[in-house]
Formats: sequence, C-alpha cells, structure tokens
Amino acid sequence: MSTVVARTRDELAVAREKLHGTVGVVMTMGALHAGHAELVRQARERADSVVVTIFLNPLQFGPNEDLAKYPRTFEADLALCEAEGVDLVFAPSPDVVYPGGDPGVRMSAGVLGDKLEGASRPGHFDGVLTVVAKMFHLTRPSLAFFGQKDAQQLLLIRRMATDLDFGLEIVAVPTVREPDGLALSSRNRYLSGLDRESALALSKALDAGLAVREQGSAAVRRAARDVLVAEPLVQVDYLVLVDPVTLDDVPEWYQGEAVLLVAAKVGTTRLIDNRPLVVGGGL
Ligand code: PAF
Repeated sequence: MSTVVARTRDELAVAREKLHGTVGVVMTMGALHAGHAELVRQARERADSVVVTIFLNPLQFGPNEDLAKYPRTFEADLALCEAEGVDLVFAPSPDVVYPGGDPGVRMSAGVLGDKLEGASRPGHFDGVLTVVAKMFHLTRPSLAFFGQKDAQQLLLIRRMATDLDFGLEIVAVPTVREPDGLALSSRNRYLSGLDRESALALSKALDAGLAVREQGSAAVRRAARDVLVAEPLVQVDYLVLVDPVTLDDVPEWYQGEAVLLVAAKVGTTRLIDNRPLVVGGGL
C-alpha cells in the first residue's frame, strides 16, 4: 500500500478515518534522516497504522534562528516515508496549522521550558508544545514516538501529555548515531567538512563523561569539559550533568540516574547531544 499524503485538515480527516487499529504518530519538521526512519520503524512495531507529520513549525524558531535556511526536502522525505511503509503523511502549510495567524493562546512549557535549550532559545518550547498539542488533536494517535536526542523536548512532551491528560503513550526512541558517534540531526547538513570533524567533540565529550561515571559527578563533568575545551572550533553553550526529571544540576555527592547534556555552536551551526547515565559507584 502506498503512502497517502494529506495537505489540508479535510484531507487529513478523510485519510485518518481510513486508518485501522492503533495509530502511532512520528512528528517531524522534514529533512528526514536515518534517525527519523528509526522512529518510524519503532512506530510500525508498536502500532497498526503510522502517521508522519511534516511541518516546519515557525512558532518554535526565534527571530535570529535558522527557519529561513532550514532544509526543505519534501520529495526525499516522502520517498523515505514510502520506503518505511508509512500509511499517512500529513504535510500542511502554516496557514492550515495556524489559520488565524500566530495563535494568541499557546501551551506554556513552564519552568522546565526556561532551562537549558529554553534559556538559549526563549519561547522555543512553548512553540514546540503548541504544535505538538495541535498535531495530537488533529491526528488522534494512541502512541507518539520522539527521539531521545532532544531530551528536554521529550521530557516536556511527556509532562504535557501527563499534566494535561492527553491520554496517549509517549515512546522514547534512542538516539541514532553515525558510526563515528555523531548524533544524527537535520542540521548536520549545514556542517562543512572541518565543522563535521570538530562536531565529533560533542559525542566524544559525552563518552568521556560516561567512562568515568563511577567516580562521581565532578569527574564526569571534568572529563567531558576537557574534551570540549581541546576543540577550538566548538563554542560551548552549556555542558551540564542534571537530574533527568528536574533538569537541575546534580550535586557532587549524587548517586543515581542523570543526563549529561551538551549544546554548542560548530561554525554557524548549533548542535545538541546527550547521554543518560548512572552516576556514582553505589548503584
Ligand atoms: O523535534 C522536532 O522535529 C520538532 O520539535 C517537532 C517535535 C516535530 C515539533 O515541531
């Protein structure tokens, strides 16, 4: 069966009615890569029908961010969806999603949304949660699949689904990496050859932190920082070891689950990556 493409709300409603069984959704902004293909594969394993949304959401971009140059590759995206057996692609334009222009009422990501990515990108997560909520209403899935690479986004979407009773299951899918460790991202295609080499410092820093996790949080932070400072083309925005629920820095004596997150500019491209880990020797 070939993939159905819906561009309008009416087309979506008709196509959605024809889907059978449990519906899983994978939300994207296009420029699909092997990480998205993995999300779709997980969705196909868990759901009877799979919907992919392709929508470059203006609401989650700041005025000086890369909305205008964000890669738009619809034909290739559709080919990937067809190859992966996606049932329905919803690819609306902004006026379909926001018929009245920018919505006056939006989701608020709250205090968790002001930390880390939210501190560098004010309003970003309000924009993400607003479009994710709308896409939940429009596609009506029972399961939704999001990558762990965007750890803070995943946490906030989970919180929204729970706090506001969306009545669906959020499934986390592990980050897909290049063989040399670079986390897949639609923004990797901005990287020059030299940038690409330098960008490896992010995953290497996380690996270095992971390797010394039994020595405690100070050792993890130090090991990761040492890798990043040795790479002059990487401008670090943040490198933090935090509690996975509160996103607060874990103290030196901490033992337990944590996440090591990094955000950095490589050339003109802002990249993020993270590793969940267990800190300390006691567990
Ligand atoms: O992760 C993304 O690609 C976007 O933030 C999402 C979840 C599709 C919302 O626009």
